[in-house]
Amino acid sequence: MRKKYMAGNWKMNLLPSTAQDLVESLAVVAPKHTQVIYFPQAPFLGCLQQWNLGKAQFGAQNISSQSSGAFTGETSAELVRALGGQFTLLGHSERRTLFGETSAQLQDKIVAAWKHQLLPILCIGETLEEREDERHFEVIKNQLMESLHGLLPISADLILAYEPVWAIGTGKTASVEQAVEVHRFIRSVLNEMQVGLGETTSILYGGSVNAGNAKELFSQSDIDGGLVGGASLKIEDFRTIIQLQDECLHA
Ligand code: 13P
Repeated sequence: MRKKYMAGNWKMNLLPSTAQDLVESLAVVAPKHTQVIYFPQAPFLGCLQQWNLGKAQFGAQNISSQSSGAFTGETSAELVRALGGQFTLLGHSERRTLFGETSAQLQDKIVAAWKHQLLPILCIGETLEEREDERHFEVIKNQLMESLHGLLPISADLILAYEPVWAIGTGKTASVEQAVEVHRFIRSVLNEMQVGLGETTSILYGGSVNAGNAKELFSQSDIDGGLVGGASLKIEDFRTIIQLQDECLHA
């Protein structure tokens, strides 16, 4: 069975005191089938190593494609790993739209992550305009090809996150049908790139996940977990989401 994840992307929110309360309150949840991951702002990655996370792990919201050197403001994969991080998000839509990150650049970041034993979570997804123009499949395929083609054959672990940009922070979740349709499409593109890759790769859904829609989304066998923004900042909401996902897997 593919591994299941529930990731909280804190974005540019929370200070160490509130974050510690959150992770330590949730440490007791201990889901059986789900790996919980926290993505804090980079400067307090090292704090998470000191706190009681239970079985949860953590990672960076972004890393540099470069190993080290004169790259002011960047964070290296090596440092994230040295501070206890095990994962990195890559290509979140906010990085793509606000900071001009391209799919081609992400290929180098995936290599940097692998080199320092971080498991990359590559985020992909279409904008509202692209969805309305019915170009979402084409956009997603291009994102996958541009980031992954140069890495084939892929033998290291990689996680994908489908986050339709129009569903991020808007309260507008993709319907279960829309999410499953795209997840299956992603699997077919991965299989075209490399036989079997679509079946072995965990694909998460993100975009306005909340305690009310988690059960329906995460009971789908094609959806291997979630990447949660706003609701991951609230202890009770994130606890419910983790528990609902874990119960779906148990059922
Ligand atoms: P929201 O859950 O706030 O919509 O954010 C989703 C997201 O961007 C997670 O990376």
